[in-house]
Amino acid sequence: MQTELIKRIGKYENREVRVNGWVYNTRRSGKIGFLLLRDGTGILQGVVIKNEIGESKFEEFKRLTQESSLSVTGKIVSNERAPGGFEMQVADFSVYQLSQDYPITPKEHGTDFLMNNRHLWLRSRRQVAILRIRHEIIKATRDFFDSHDFTLVDTPILTPNAAEGTTTLFETEYFGEKAYLAQTGQLYGEANAMATGRQYNFGPTFRAEKSKTRRHLIEFWMVEPEIAFCDLEENMQWAERMLEFILARVVENRRDDLATLERDVAMLERIRAPFPRISYTECVDLLNRAGKKFTWGQDFGAPEETFISEQFNKPVMVHRFPAEIKAFYMKRDPENEKVVLGMDVLAPEGYGEIIGGAEREADYETLLKRIEKEGLPREDFEWYLDLRRYGSVPHAGFGMGIERLVAWVCKLPHVRETIPFPRMLGRMTP
Ligand code: 4AD
Ligand code: MG
Repeated sequence: MQTELIKRIGKYENREVRVNGWVYNTRRSGKIGFLLLRDGTGILQGVVIKNEIGESKFEEFKRLTQESSLSVTGKIVSNERAPGGFEMQVADFSVYQLSQDYPITPKEHGTDFLMNNRHLWLRSRRQVAILRIRHEIIKATRDFFDSHDFTLVDTPILTPNAAEGTTTLFETEYFGEKAYLAQTGQLYGEANAMATGRQYNFGPTFRAEKSKTRRHLIEFWMVEPEIAFCDLEENMQWAERMLEFILARVVENRRDDLATLERDVAMLERIRAPFPRISYTECVDLLNRAGKKFTWGQDFGAPEETFISEQFNKPVMVHRFPAEIKAFYMKRDPENEKVVLGMDVLAPEGYGEIIGGAEREADYETLLKRIEKEGLPREDFEWYLDLRRYGSVPHAGFGMGIERLVAWVCKLPHVRETIPFPRMLGRMTP
């Protein structure tokens, strides 16, 4: 007999088929039993009738527990009221394993309990929907760059130096030398872009962030395009076109999962490029006009980002930040030395920064001065300076945190549900 996934079960109308999965729920009324089976692609209702399946099999059905693993066979018939529009008339089943006292029951559980059982919590409908949307976002991101002549080039995880400030570095030991887990692949991405023209790197990144917020992870995944012969304006165009493409894909392919999460899809469908652009300085004016005292030169925190993003119903691109608060590699604005050609994309609905990027400093002398001023060890950056010695060109890029985007797309209150096994301040298990 054919084995089929639940999502494709409709093909077998009026035919027998086998389905493998786990017990989601069972219920009985007299001599009729109902079995809800999940297989990761959907939920199938099975009808178990005592007179048809036999007394001993019906007794076995009664002993089934939540999350027991099964192989079930039977005829598929249409039923409007069943999940997915079809149900199975169960002819037989065999048990792989009877689950004992599954800890996650349909009742409400606290966050800590669910996080301790994250390895099991992942099986819930909402969590599966989030995992699938995360996958779609990653696939769409890659498809976007792949179809625009970008080459995927990997960057190292173990690195000899900091790239995004020394306060969030994870230190480890590398055969007697100090090594750090990558906070970003960007500096290597720049080298790759000088080889391939347009590259993107995509991998895990690490920040020893001492802050416990709803949008900070210690380990997160970042996609980072880096583009040769590109300025700040073109960089912003790449970012908005990429986001537009990803959102369209998610809405098209993951409508059911968004519905499971009760996400307002109309909001996502409205997101079309171009996105509004606003300078940091204009943001400071906005904040002060709204009575939120904010001094030019400070970094935006979550409250400021939330306020700014709430002024628009699309992502907004904030550009030209004070040089003092941004990384050493960002190019100064030739028209105003106090600011750098950096940009952040803030997501609407109060989600704040999902993308950070910049046009890079391409001039050897200027970059060297920045490295020295920041007190960074020059020896470690000689190779990076080489990129400005041998055919330096204007170039730009950005990094998008996958989890931040998933959080917004799924409208989740916290990033902990956007990644299968979150690493957060005070939590490394399971
Ligand atoms: O703004 P960031 O620090 O920029 C960079 O790392 C650049 N080198 C990227 C580049 O230009 N190639 O980080 C980029 C993005 C943020 O906008 C955010 O989405 C995400 O990475 N991010 C985090 N996500 C979850 N938890 C954290 N602790 C994050 N830190 C940054
Ligand atoms: Mg940033």
